[in-house]
Amino acid sequence: MNRIKVGLFTSFGILLMIGCNDDPPSGDLLSIPYDPRPQNVIVPAFFNPFPDNPSNPLTYDGVQLGRHLFYDPILSSDSSMACAGCHKPEFAFTDGEAFSIGVTGQLGNRSSMSLLNVAYFSKGLFWDGRSADLESQALEPVENPIELHESWPNVEMKLRRHVKYPEMFRKAFGISGKAEIKKELAAKALAQFQRTLITGGNSRYAKQLEGKTFFDPDEQEGMEMFFNSNPSLPDAQCGHCHAFPTFQSSDYFNNGLDAASKVSDFKDVGRGAISGIPLDSGRFKATSLFNWHLTAPYMHDGRFKTIEEVLDHYTQQVKQSPNLDPNVANLVLNVRQKNKVLAFLKTLIDTSYLKNQDFLSPF
Ligand code: HEC
Ligand code: HEC
Repeated sequence: MNRIKVGLFTSFGILLMIGCNDDPPSGDLLSIPYDPRPQNVIVPAFFNPFPDNPSNPLTYDGVQLGRHLFYDPILSSDSSMACAGCHKPEFAFTDGEAFSIGVTGQLGNRSSMSLLNVAYFSKGLFWDGRSADLESQALEPVENPIELHESWPNVEMKLRRHVKYPEMFRKAFGISGKAEIKKELAAKALAQFQRTLITGGNSRYAKQLEGKTFFDPDEQEGMEMFFNSNPSLPDAQCGHCHAFPTFQSSDYFNNGLDAASKVSDFKDVGRGAISGIPLDSGRFKATSLFNWHLTAPYMHDGRFKTIEEVLDHYTQQVKQSPNLDPNVANLVLNVRQKNKVLAFLKTLIDTSYLKNQDFLSPF
């Protein structure tokens, strides 16, 4: 292997030449100051308190490191694809496809998921909840052959040799030498960045809660059906699963996408494969409805292209199976009522996050 030399500017502007094939000496980063500052995240007033992870508290430098890693194709096998390749800010951090295409061109088996308000999922990540938290989730895409198809030892080596990352890891985590750059720290930084991706506070819904605007009659009735708060209107049931305040749930449900005579018949058993509980088969996570207009195509397999198709599903096409959720079993809305639910859903749009540079690529 060639000896690769890289130039590194320290904060004093001195050019150091380091032979990176040798193990760097421990303590080689100690001249860089480590002065962690907590990163505050402002959440909408009607949200629950920000769910920080006490074993990985947000710091300014941790979040910035995570943001760089998220947008950097250095995490993929041929340096062509970043996390952001499938989680694009302009699509609410999904990719606009039914199935995502990985770095080697291989087609995945599930649709990419929005990362907005992802901090608020407390019972697992992915459609089936197979990762316990964002820290363990972030380890998966790098080595997944249908995603970044790279090995962590390789990524660690690329990060240690990089001109900027050693300094950023030092500032984020106080490591004393490059050899301490490990996948667990990269995952922690990615988790920190993703927890900051909060949205909803500038939606029409939020303004209405704050008394700064009033809903028109369609929006108002749509909301009452969504949350079943008006006995003279039918229950649209949505709020049971896409629950206040983030319009998502950490639990897993069968919302009637596929018919099955026994639970083992589901083509994608979803949660059942993870929990091992037969009745969990065909159950998936109820994702957030904030900015639903950017997350099409919808559902874990992207089967619905439009929100109208989603509403038609819930009101006319729910399929029978032994563990069908009772809340979708008898959902009946006429066309006018569906349009009112849609008018309410439109109040959950908040694209102000796209103007927040801290959410976007640093490159
Ligand atoms: C090739 C496309 C692709 C790439 C690259 C990719 N993801 Fe994903 N991501 C997906 C898909 C598809 C899912 C849903 C998979 C499933 O549930 O089985 C997902 C799910 C997630 C989730 C779960 C969200 C939730 O609400 O449960 C998180 C978090 C996430 N990805 C973060 C990342 C990070 C961090 C990276 C980079 C290290 C990354 N992704 C790279 C396609 C991708
Ligand atoms: C029994 C719980 C439940 C009820 C009731 C429910 N949903 Fe869902 N919803 C889910 C689950 C679970 C998913 C993900 C299913 C999957 O992909 O397999 C989902 C997915 C969605 C999606 C797709 C999200 C995306 O980005 O792909 C939309 C939109 C949606 N629901 C809207 C609604 C509306 C509107 C209502 C009321 C008419 C409603 N839901 C009622 C559980 C529910």
